[in-house]
Amino acid sequence: MISHETFEKSFSVKGGLENAGHISSQVKALLTDMDLSKQTIRRAAVVAYEAETNICSYADHGKIVLRVTPKFVIIEAIDEGQGIKDIELAMKEGYSTATEKIRSMGFGAGMGLSNMKNFSDTFRIISEVGKGTHLKMIIRIRKK
Ligand SMILES: Nc1ncnc2c1ncn2[C@@H]1O[C@H](COP(=O)(O)OP(=O)(O)OP(=O)(O)O)[C@@H](O)[C@H]1O
Ligand SMILES: [Mg+2]
Repeated sequence: MISHETFEKSFSVKGGLENAGHISSQVKALLTDMDLSKQTIRRAAVVAYEAETNICSYADHGKIVLRVTPKFVIIEAIDEGQGIKDIELAMKEGYSTATEKIRSMGFGAGMGLSNMKNFSDTFRIISEVGKGTHLKMIIRIRKK
């Protein structure tokens, strides 16, 4: 078992939806090894997956940083992609600018950002058009 006292790992994410899921499954496996509650692992896995698919969809590359403290799982997603013009609109359930190609791969329901917000206890988004996007999600570790 990996100790989760002060765990930190950064994963590089490559753009392109064919790559989506690689990092979030590694994140899920690491958290499972830490023996956290199923609910905590599920929340963190959803957050990591949605963050990863957005980097794959809307940026050429980015990174996901996982940190685990005794009380929190912290996931940050940082990319240098196209950025978001209207964050409030992007946060709305059902809003999506996904291309036909992305939709044909089963994505683009416009639920990712709201899922990330709903599954985390603290959600922060900073984005600038042409510069990139930085998400920070904090999930409080639930008891078993
Ligand atoms: N990292 C990002 N860089 C640039 N734009 C983004 C990023 N993440 C989200 N967006 C914008 O916000 C919109 C909403 O994102 P969200 O994840 O909620 O839905 P989606 O990715 O379109 O569909 P789903 O996640 O349900 O497959 C996206 O369509 C896109 O326009
Ligand atoms: Mg998405």
